[in-house]
Amino acid sequence: MKRVLPCGETVPALGQGTWNLGDDPALRQQEIAALRRGLDLGLTLVDTAEMYGDGRSELLVGEAIAGRRDQVFLVSKVYPHNASAKAMRKSCEASLGRLRVETIDLYLLHWPGSVPLAETVEGFEALRRAGKIRHWGVSNFDTDAMQDLWGTPGGGAVQVNQVLYNLAERGIDWDLRPWLHAQAIPVMAYSPFDQGRLLRAPALVRFAQRQGMTVSQVALAWLLAQEGVIAIPKSGSRERVEENAGALARPLSAAQLEELDRLFPPPQEATPLAML
Ligand SMILES: NC(=O)c1ccc[n+]([C@@H]2O[C@H](COP(=O)([O-])OP(=O)(O)OC[C@H]3O[C@@H](n4cnc5c(N)ncnc54)[C@H](OP(=O)(O)O)[C@@H]3O)[C@@H](O)[C@H]2O)c1
Repeated sequence: MKRVLPCGETVPALGQGTWNLGDDPALRQQEIAALRRGLDLGLTLVDTAEMYGDGRSELLVGEAIAGRRDQVFLVSKVYPHNASAKAMRKSCEASLGRLRVETIDLYLLHWPGSVPLAETVEGFEALRRAGKIRHWGVSNFDTDAMQDLWGTPGGGAVQVNQVLYNLAERGIDWDLRPWLHAQAIPVMAYSPFDQGRLLRAPALVRFAQRQGMTVSQVALAWLLAQEGVIAIPKSGSRERVEENAGALARPLSAAQLEELDRLFPPPQEATPLAML
């Protein structure tokens, strides 16, 4: 299953998150094996950030994708305090070094900060011209921030907005998702399991049992049923990555989606964007 970026390129609808991977040396080989298994199963969009473990996640991703760079759509993020044109260049070079690649496919501003958006956009475009990144986007941008970006010179080149979105966190269904949909900008849904909490929600556990699916598969299949949504579950376990990839083969029916809407209702009013 694929999603189309505004530039016309397609990316997998189901990718892999990597927050906290690489933090525990004892788990390193297991985590690398999990990421590689994900690549085998088509989860070739890999999300990381300079923030994660102070570069440890990027280092681990670099090791996991070594020799398979051409199979991967690599996403990383710059800290807002490094989002000035000059600091961004340095951050990007450091990320490229840890990842051991020439180019990052999609480079995101991790959350809105105090550097003027026009300067950040200029910085992204300079990196793009230099071949250090192929595309750029944002993360944790609410509707007003997206509108500001849209009104910034060059801001229309944004490729995604990566935000918290899962069955238990549906705030963006009110206005951000419709706004992004209208501009054909995909939502990259982070923490699709609400960092594991959603997988223990009794209503979801019962629903999954009735459908003969695992809870993680229901959580992901629901996201995959949403138009223009890319999901990036994180797991450091090979077996769980296999289980999660299984969601691709279990699309939910209209009746199942209606029941999930009753169990996890969409918002009835605007709420500020939730962040982790
Ligand atoms: N832009 C941002 O501000 C932002 C914020 C948060 C996250 N993110 C990105 O989104 C990715 C995903 O979000 P997340 O890591 O916060 O949380 P998540 O993917 O919602 O949940 C991860 C947790 O679920 C567990 N898990 C995974 N598959 C499972 C399964 N099949 N059964 C049971 N448990 C399972 C993982 O444990 P195991 O590893 O032990 O399997 C881990 O504890 C991150 O890794 C990161 O790349 C971005």
